[in-house]
Amino acid sequence: MKKSLFYFLLFACQVVFGQSKYLKDVLPFPLGAAVNPRLLAAQPTYREIVSSEFTGLTAENHMKMMLVHPDADRFDFSKGDEILQLAQKEHKRMHGHTLVWHNQVPKWMNEYKGDAAAWEHMLKNHIQEVVGHYRGKVTGWDVVNEAFLDDGSLRPSIWAKNIPDYIAKSFQWAHEADPTALLFYNDYGQDGKPKKMAAILQMVKELKARNIPIHGLGLQMHINIHSKKDELETIINQSSATGLAIHFSELDVAVNPKNDSTFVNTTETQHAQLQRFEWVFLAYLKIPKNQQYGITFWNVTDGDSWLRSYFKRPKEFPLLFDETYLRKPMYDQLVQKIADAK
Ligand code: XIL
Repeated sequence: MKKSLFYFLLFACQVVFGQSKYLKDVLPFPLGAAVNPRLLAAQPTYREIVSSEFTGLTAENHMKMMLVHPDADRFDFSKGDEILQLAQKEHKRMHGHTLVWHNQVPKWMNEYKGDAAAWEHMLKNHIQEVVGHYRGKVTGWDVVNEAFLDDGSLRPSIWAKNIPDYIAKSFQWAHEADPTALLFYNDYGQDGKPKKMAAILQMVKELKARNIPIHGLGLQMHINIHSKKDELETIINQSSATGLAIHFSELDVAVNPKNDSTFVNTTETQHAQLQRFEWVFLAYLKIPKNQQYGITFWNVTDGDSWLRSYFKRPKEFPLLFDETYLRKPMYDQLVQKIADAK
């Protein structure tokens, strides 16, 4: 029997015999997932989980510069559009990720030669073509991703090097292309990095003072079972004190952050992970309602987690669904805890 058929049957059994409440149904905000169009097309069970469990979608990769703008004179929206069509068909919110980043930049941009005006024109064109293509269809955009280092300095990148004030300009350009889209600054690892957090808050303050449209902060939330709750609480409070919309944009909770090859996911580590997930959702519910943009998981199942593929960490189990596409035992407990807390 084909592996995918086997998983589908297992999954169907869970649906028929044991499926209880959905996490999305106990949440007053959208629950998203970063998705991969190849898996959506090839894996019916993956597709089914995406359809039934989530109310928002983010393209894991297919709206990034490298994929959407492979050549200077060519855009490729085909895969991003596939994800958007699924979102539209199933009335899910589409979140745009990401317009300006130092990673996954196409070769032609990395090798681009020109003066400041030419660089500006190039980036403005990129942003406005992409945002324009999805105008009115994508609710919010991660306009700038990961622009600061842990010490609070601006991360060196082709953008920082060639375009003065590139962050403010990017927000402005995105706003011109879709005045209704919510515009986010997105970053990771602010917890325990007060200088990085301070730089982000300072940026928000300056953008607001200059009337540059910024509407939200994305906290990626790639955390692990040892992440310190007090440090997370601090950055959540500081972020929400800006009054901006808050998106936990890339949630996963690593159980084996040091990538120990002999790691076994015991009941203890599973329990520690459940407690972190509970903590994250309850902390999010304390953010003022009008600032709750939503929580998005980075990937769907342990098997398709970027921690396994990108970081080559085969013994990592960071999500709510296991690699056979089943809800993990903690799923129901998480739902219950959230339902009880409301
Ligand atoms: C990751 C994807 O999951 C991988 O498939 C890709 O190879 C690299 O990028 N922060 C982000 C995301 O903002 O875009 C990253 O996604 C994960 C870290």
